[in-house]
Amino acid sequence: MSSSDSRLWNDVDAYLADLLSPEDDALTAALRDSDAAGLPHINVATTQGKLLQLLVQIQGGRRILEFGTLGGYSTIWLARALPEDGRLISFEYDARHAEVARRNLDRAGVGRLVDVRVGPALESLPKLADENPEPFDFVFIDADKANNRNYLEWALKLTRPGALIVIDNVIRGGAVADAGTEDPAVRGTRAALELIASHPKLSGTAVQTVGSKGWDGFALARVLEPEG
Ligand code: SAH
Ligand code: DHB
Ligand code: MG
Repeated sequence: MSSSDSRLWNDVDAYLADLLSPEDDALTAALRDSDAAGLPHINVATTQGKLLQLLVQIQGGRRILEFGTLGGYSTIWLARALPEDGRLISFEYDARHAEVARRNLDRAGVGRLVDVRVGPALESLPKLADENPEPFDFVFIDADKANNRNYLEWALKLTRPGALIVIDNVIRGGAVADAGTEDPAVRGTRAALELIASHPKLSGTAVQTVGSKGWDGFALARVLEPEG
């Protein structure tokens, strides 16, 4: 990509975001405080936050599971799609990120709907399963990419038929198409995509995107009804 390409992508993203997914004060403040706390700028783009919100609304989701809270930016978009009795559980490895997220979520008025669980997601997951949670309707996987397949397998255990699963950052500048890659993030992502392709209970696709976050994309999968 040339620098004029990326400038054009940024300009178009800014145009679309201002028009169709403008941030309110709480979303703007969430990014500002995340930045002030030194968190990396790897939140979803505004337009993608709006897409996640629309997907939950289209589906009528009441229970959301998120992998990777960071400062709670995607969490706010998702939680705002929930009804009053909805619930969002978000896994975050880093206690400092979770603390920033907690403040951002409370300020955005969705704090009561969201439970941020601190620690490696693969340690939090068995604990969550032990609670016999009501099945989830929507899953957003956006944490350490090397574990994408593991997270997808857990998502299958914890969701109902009809649930939607979104996996972020599955393109990463095109590296995903490299079958010989040794990059653990790309290998984990390819393994997750292969599970979407092969699993009898999943139907999915992946879409490339350009914009303020460069060249990337997401996968979307639907958990199918059992046969018969
Ligand atoms: N979903 C956020 C961005 C998440 S960035 C948004 O769009 O706003 C990825 C996050 O995953 C980081 O905060 C990182 O600390 C967290 N993470 C990394 N490894 C993890 C793990 N093993 N378990 C849970 N969270 C993890
Ligand atoms: C990275 C992680 C993300 O979730 C993202 O959306 C962009 C970048 C990263 O780890 O570099
Ligand atoms: Mg991401």
